[in-house]
Amino acid sequence: MSVTAICGSRNRNGKTAAALQQFLGGCRSAGAEATEYYLPEQAIERCRQCDPDGWGDCRDKGACIIDDDFDAIVQSIRSAQGVVFATPVYWGDLSESIRAFTDRLRRICAYAGNADTIEGKPAVGICVAGGSGGGWLTCCVSLEKTVTQTGFILQDIFALNKRNLPYKNKALAAAGTWLVSHA
Ligand SMILES: Cc1cc2nc3c(=O)[nH]c(=O)nc-3n(C[C@H](O)[C@H](O)[C@H](O)COP(=O)(O)O)c2cc1C
Repeated sequence: MSVTAICGSRNRNGKTAAALQQFLGGCRSAGAEATEYYLPEQAIERCRQCDPDGWGDCRDKGACIIDDDFDAIVQSIRSAQGVVFATPVYWGDLSESIRAFTDRLRRICAYAGNADTIEGKPAVGICVAGGSGGGWLTCCVSLEKTVTQTGFILQDIFALNKRNLPYKNKALAAAGTWLVSHA
């Protein structure tokens, strides 16, 4: 059993990373291996909207023409039994790096030939509003939309802020264990 973690934070010692580690701790305690990607460390261009109609090879071939780190992460997602998306809340929305990645992932998954490896795969979302604590709801809405449009089955989305973090940590670990046990 393997889990792929997609993190939209640059800070491996930050709040988003800490929440992600709680979740992955639960996964590992249930016997899973985790592969982690901190997207700001990866070369991920934004979508080029290749053709005049806004589509491109993503629609006809289920592949992105951009030669960067995107494809390797997609392969990890394909081979995993579960996926977790974790993002800091920026302006009440996803961080730029996770936006760039999920925008392209959603496109290649619109191709029917890719449905066998991603559609129906369980996923969990984590949104960490580490500043004022505002904007968590709109960030969760963005993440829910992109994850479900991509074809994942969303098990849960966690909205964290400095007030609820201590008690949500236990729930994050439980969710990780649950994902591995039920995937
Ligand atoms: C550009 C930007 C926008 C942000 N917008 C919000 C926000 O809308 N609400 C909030 O609570 N925190 C906001 N923050 C704070 C981040 O959520 C906080 O830095 C993050 O949760 C902790 O970062 P880390 O997990 O990457 O360490 C923002 C931070 C940045 C850099």
